[in-house]
Order: sequence, then C-alpha cells, then structure tokens
Amino acid sequence: MKALVLAGGAGTRLRPFSYSMPKQLMPIANKPVLVHIVETLRSISVKQIGMIVGSHADEIRSVLGDGSAFNVQISYIVQDSPRGLAHCVQIARGFLGDDDFVMYLGDNILPEGISEVADEFRMGRPAAQVVLHKVPDPQAFGVAEVDPDGWVTALVEKPKEPKTDLALIGVYFFTPAIHQAVAAIKPSPRGELEITDAIQWLVSSGWKVRGHVYSGFWKDTGNVEDLLECNRELLDGLRTSIAGDFDAATQFTGPVVLEAGARVSRSRLVGPVIVGAGSIVEDSYLGPHTTVGRDCQLRQTSIDNSILLNGAKVHQVRDIYGSIIGRFSILSASPGTGRNRLVVGDHTSLEVTG
Ligand code: DAU
Repeated sequence: MKALVLAGGAGTRLRPFSYSMPKQLMPIANKPVLVHIVETLRSISVKQIGMIVGSHADEIRSVLGDGSAFNVQISYIVQDSPRGLAHCVQIARGFLGDDDFVMYLGDNILPEGISEVADEFRMGRPAAQVVLHKVPDPQAFGVAEVDPDGWVTALVEKPKEPKTDLALIGVYFFTPAIHQAVAAIKPSPRGELEITDAIQWLVSSGWKVRGHVYSGFWKDTGNVEDLLECNRELLDGLRTSIAGDFDAATQFTGPVVLEAGARVSRSRLVGPVIVGAGSIVEDSYLGPHTTVGRDCQLRQTSIDNSILLNGAKVHQVRDIYGSIIGRFSILSASPGTGRNRLVVGDHTSLEVTG
C-alpha cells in the first residue's frame, strides 16, 4: 500500500504562523506534524509516500528530504493552488498507479496510530474505508451516515444540518476505484473538488464504503488552541531523556527531555517538558506541557502549557501560559519604564495583564 499525504493548502486559520511556515510543519512535542504522520505511516508498513505540496514546497522538502532519514521514500507532487482534496488524488495518479493507498491530511494528528483500521481495510478491501469520529460540531467537517453493519450510506461535506455526529477524520483508505470517482465529480459551492463528494459518488454507484469509528484522541491542528491541546496529549506520553547539561542548582520533577546541547541552570522544570537542542534556560521555571524548540533562550522566566518555536527568546517575563511564541521572536521586560513596547506582526494575538 502507498500513501498520499496532503500538505498543500493555505492554512489561514493558523495565522500568523502560516505566513512564514506551512501549518503542517508546526511542532508538536518538538516534532513537525508531518514527521508524526510519516512515522505513523511507517508503522503500518507504508514505504512509498506521495507528498502533495503547494507554495511552501521548499520548506517541507528541507525538513523531510527524500524520506531516507525516516526509512521511507518520499515523492513530491506540486499542486498549483488548493483546488480540493479530490484534485490531489487526480494529480497524484502517476505516483499512485493502480495501487491501494491511504490518504492522510497533513494537519491531522492521531497519536494512537491507525494500525487497527489499516488491518481492517487490508483484510476486507472495500472500495474505500473512511475513519469516523463523534464530534460536538459536525457542521465543521465532512459527515457520514452509517448503517448498523458499518457500511456508509451517505456523506456530505460540512452540512448546515448534519444528520449524524460522525465526522470524517483526515485518514482515508482507497482502492483504485477512487480514480473513477474523482474524475466524475464537479467542484463544490466553495469551488473545490471534494473527496467527500467522490466517496459519495462511490456509494451512489454501488461500491462498498466502510466506516470505521475511531474513539481515540484526534485533532485537525487547524488553530492555535488545537495545537496546544495536541501538544499536551503527546507530552503526556513523554519519557525522561537527558542528552543536554544541567547544573546542581536545577531541579526536575516529572518527565523531562533535554536534547543534545541544551543547557539548564538554576531552574525548576516540572514535566512533561522538552527543551530542544542548543537551547539555554537560566533562572527560570518551566511548567507542565511546555516545549522549547531548538536554539531558544529563556532567562528569569516562568512559563507553562506553551510552545516556543526555534530561536525564540524570553527574558524576565513571568507567568506565561497557553502561549505559542514564533520563530526568532523576542519577549522581554522593560523594567523601570512602566510602559510596554511591542512590535506585533499581522494577525497576532496578545493578552497582557493590562
Ligand atoms: O480534518 C478533517 C476534515 O478535513 C474532513 O472532515 C473534511 O471532510 C475534509 O474536507 C477536510 O476539511 P478541511 O476544510 O479541514 O480541509 P483543509 O482545507 O484544512 O485541508 C486538509 C489538508 O489538505 C491540509 O493539510 C491542507 C491540504 N490540502 C487542502 C486542499 C483543499 C491540500 O494539500 N490541497 C488542497 O487543495
């Protein structure tokens, strides 16, 4: 089985980060979302991955390369603009050939993996197998109706009045029958070739489509709150590993990862916490569910439940929580002035004590 990973698209809900980097490379537990996905695919014995990329193609290539670092082969397929998930299947036809494949949306995280549903698909080999999850807000997703035996009877993309609460998760298994379906559908009212419509075409044409209800943790990392929630979920499984240095005045509680070249002095770390390679932490408190990227600097700071991207610096600012601090951003106190000085980028959100 091959895989098709969708990492094009605009990612506007993740502004301001998506101005400078694709949302699929945002770090969760200090690893880009796409790396989590490649590892998940490898765990179900997929070795050939087609990666749909758009305007951020170069950055994605520089992180994943040809896949050999992850023991897979990655072929890049460039999409000129986000014309829909079914359009991605159309342009990947040369790569996919007549093989079965799993299509994985590049912003979806399923920490418990997809082995069970992959086995079910490989054994039963229906024309398509979708993964479903009960959600409180089905109108934000593709929604499926399923009969008591687990066969899908209808699917609608982002319905105003959903008939069920079963959302389509961004993991789909297909046989080559999907190629007829993506050729047959027309663009939706939002102007995209919807994969949901293509699967509905299969159902209407008499093909068997199976629905697998997944009850584990799942998130589409589309916005900042979702990213923080995913980070917490993945850090909950963290195990201590110390490759960096710390001094005698530093205390650790709970699982802590210090990557190579990280240096921690006179600080208290209450895990789960990761300090990335080459980062410096001095006279600070890092609380649960905090990840510090590579080459960051934290001095006289207290922070919890937050993500610092590579190269961020925080000096003398206390009580930071629930925050995402972008690459090479600087957050520092201006003691004695009694005033605040901010250089804030577009679509940024700041909440200060006032
Ligand atoms: O997350 C699950 C949902 O994903 C499903 O419930 C929906 O049925 C499905 O349509 C999809 O909805 P979204 O509106 O969330 O899709 P989004 O535009 O965010 O795209 C999902 C991924 O695919 C994202 O990594 C970007 C990539 N993409 C998207 C489009 C439209 C492409 O690579 N090319 C595209 O043309």
